[in-house]
Amino acid sequence: MSAIDRSILAQRMANEEARFVGSHPKSQAAAKAAGDSLLGGVPMPWMKRWPGAFPISVTEARGAKFVDLDGHGYTDFCLGDTGSMTGHAVDEITSAITAQLNRGSTVMLPSVDATWVGQELARRFGLPKWQFSISATDANRFVLRLARHLTGRPKVLVHDWCYHGTVDETLVIADEHGQTISRHGAIGPQVHPSTTTRVVPFNDLDALEKQSSFGDVACMLIEPALTNIGIVLPEPGYLAGVRELTRKHGVILIIDETHTICAGPGGATQLWSLEPDMLVIGKTIGGGIPVAAYGMSSALAARAEKSLASHDIDVSGLGGTLAGSVLAMAAVRATLSNALLPEQFEKTIRLATRWAEGVAASIKRFDLDWSVQQLGCRAEYWFGQSPKNGAQAAARVDPELENFMHLWALNRGVLLTPFHNMALLSPFHTEQDIDDHTDIFASAVSALVD
Ligand SMILES: Cc1ncc(COP(=O)(O)O)c(C=O)c1O
Repeated sequence: MSAIDRSILAQRMANEEARFVGSHPKSQAAAKAAGDSLLGGVPMPWMKRWPGAFPISVTEARGAKFVDLDGHGYTDFCLGDTGSMTGHAVDEITSAITAQLNRGSTVMLPSVDATWVGQELARRFGLPKWQFSISATDANRFVLRLARHLTGRPKVLVHDWCYHGTVDETLVIADEHGQTISRHGAIGPQVHPSTTTRVVPFNDLDALEKQSSFGDVACMLIEPALTNIGIVLPEPGYLAGVRELTRKHGVILIIDETHTICAGPGGATQLWSLEPDMLVIGKTIGGGIPVAAYGMSSALAARAEKSLASHDIDVSGLGGTLAGSVLAMAAVRATLSNALLPEQFEKTIRLATRWAEGVAASIKRFDLDWSVQQLGCRAEYWFGQSPKNGAQAAARVDPELENFMHLWALNRGVLLTPFHNMALLSPFHTEQDIDDHTDIFASAVSALVD
């Protein structure tokens, strides 16, 4: 097995850092100017996660490509971390959004687009009743609140190393004794997270049986495959076991498809015939406009509707002034009519397989102990063997090596997702884009081990 020599890695990284700074003078000046008015020099904290000394400023994004302030073109395998999984600036979606903008964007009254969208989400995910929020984070907060209200139980159950947005209850991991603690980096939790949350490892039904049996768990919020600590797939029988145990203990099962929509038009829920009580999906369904949806079974909806009938409905803790706006509903309708369709997934999944095969061939050629994982149109590589749960996945993260691989790619016109080594494919990517990545990946590895 080839090993990575850390001193060679440090040398190569220094070269890449210098190359990056030398070739992005305009982005560097823009980043410097931003430091005067923006917290941390960026409009959103995660924009500091990119490799290189400063984030590049983008001037235009279209299809699978974007251009930066210095005039460099890139192939985008991040796609706004799923927000633009449809591809950037898709003509049909952009025209529908522009047309709606010209007819008004928000009036706090419904439009008929909302009903079309509710029906389409019901068809894709098998749950009959839907509501909307501005982000998947909000949708997750709302379903947790509803679940606590409907069951009269205080706690939520999540997977170790999960991510469901900036939701206090879910920014957690389990410590070595299985106790819930805040995730490293999570700031300002309202209360100690063990007050609100129980945590179980992914793929561990014994732990789930134990943690759901105390009678205090309102709901279990899950991604059906972990995607946010890298892709961790469910073992055979795991999700069936989750459904059985949550039913047995009266725990509402909520599936968050915000990322796993990469599995197909109805996400992993449709692909694997899952039966959640509630479902959340955000990011990509608005074609770039901030919107998310949450759906539920008729039984839960009937009970929720009773609680949402009073004059005080505006302080229920659900909803928001701009949620379900006519603009958002037009955007979702246009997106689900024109994108995220079976024929597009057929293409993007094929491209993801080609991407994974290209990477796997180099791993083999250079005799590395690395591996590749794929879920639908999402693929990524690991500096080790594919993990079985979040803690194993977290232990395999190698920030130094990851940073190098990302910066090497960026300097050669390829953007990977800044979190782990992930590529998301849109219908606008081409086989040439994939093969270019394969070559760039091989050259990065060769620079380290040859
Ligand atoms: C599974 C999942 N749920 C929810 C969210 C939150 O989405 P947003 O940041 O758009 O609120 C994310 C964000 O990455 C996510 O991956």
